[in-house]
Amino acid sequence: MPEGNVTIYPGSFDPPTNGHLDLIERGAKMFRQLIVAILRNDGKAALFTVEERMEMLCEAVKHLRNVRVESFDGLLVRFAAQKGARVILRGIRAVSDYEFELQMAMMNRKLQPDLETVFMLPGEAYSYVSSRLVKEVFRLGGDVSDLVPPIVVQRLKAKARI
Ligand code: PNS
Repeated sequence: MPEGNVTIYPGSFDPPTNGHLDLIERGAKMFRQLIVAILRNDGKAALFTVEERMEMLCEAVKHLRNVRVESFDGLLVRFAAQKGARVILRGIRAVSDYEFELQMAMMNRKLQPDLETVFMLPGEAYSYVSSRLVKEVFRLGGDVSDLVPPIVVQRLKAKARI
């Protein structure tokens, strides 16, 4: 696929949720080409490896022709420049997300003024869904099958068996 005119949807995706998927589907309708970009060098301890997250995301977005999944290291603005991206897509679920998102968007603008951050709202049904809570609910025996794609349920169960 040729580079250029792409939008990047970055995140940790540990694991991907239906909220992420909802935003990806909305983004795929709005933008010509969408790269879902998994951060590699995150300081946070992750449940899934980047490769596992990549597999789950690829499976979850395989019906979307203009979406691909990649991973990146280091500064997001650098990755965006390498891909010829002009737009960063981020989701805002509630006011509580806004402060951090604003800070990141402004820092990215300082680093790369030509790169625009665009915010979209996920469906209301996902306004409370986060990767962190999904992991906690699953770990404590709760049902997360309405909150994440089927592949993620499978992978969570497989991890629990190890
Ligand atoms: O899913 P998350 O954890 O909210 O995603 C955060 C992410 C990956 C978008 C953010 O941590 C990021 O862009 N990291 C890359 C490093 C970087 O560019 N930092 C400076 C800009 S704020």
